[in-house]
Amino acid sequence: MKTENTVWHQTNVTKVQRATLKQQKPCLLWYTGLSGSGKSTVANAVDALLFERGHHSYLLDGDNVRHGLNGDLGFSDTDRIENIRRISEVSKLFIDSGLIVSTAFISPFAQDRAMARDLLEDGEFIEVYIDTPIEVCEQRDPKGLYKKARAGEIKDFTGIDSAYDVPEEPEVHIETAKYTIEECAQQIVSHLEQNGYLGAK
Ligand code: ADX
Repeated sequence: MKTENTVWHQTNVTKVQRATLKQQKPCLLWYTGLSGSGKSTVANAVDALLFERGHHSYLLDGDNVRHGLNGDLGFSDTDRIENIRRISEVSKLFIDSGLIVSTAFISPFAQDRAMARDLLEDGEFIEVYIDTPIEVCEQRDPKGLYKKARAGEIKDFTGIDSAYDVPEEPEVHIETAKYTIEECAQQIVSHLEQNGYLGAK
């Protein structure tokens, strides 16, 4: 619990200095979409493209973070909100370190995504909507979870018996059923390029 004796320690090396050293504008690519929509796959492909071009990036992936930092959280609305809150705060620290951060979480509630956006400075939050129809996600079913959810073995499954708020104005809109993974990744990197996030290398 934060008390009045907890004072924010001003660091000597600033975010701007770190970003300048890395020749990039730190930002957060916030991937959102249904389970099986391709968030992690596309985010990994973007991360690889950025790395190849000499940029410094890091991907926080829902399934992995839920094994560690958020290992105590389930899928009730309250736990999902806390999941997103922690991830937003961690992302903010990573941005402060000068990185291009990616988060791949369903993040089903618009209000929580707005909270993540509000934590950051203008232009730092880039919402990437991985728009894949639920029928396609269900057909892919890479982890067999839709099958279990339909059989009633998993409760509160997003898109089945738990809500997903479709992003209204995402900065980037990706349709994975129409393009290859490489094309989707390139669309995102182009957005970063066109909006001045990637300095000359
Ligand atoms: S979020 O809603 O809190 O943002 P998050 O992205 O961290 O979800 O985790 C989603 C992943 O957890 C899914 O891709 C799936 O592998 C797994 N999962 C397990 N139970 C559920 C559930 N009830 N609803 C959605 N995903 C679930």
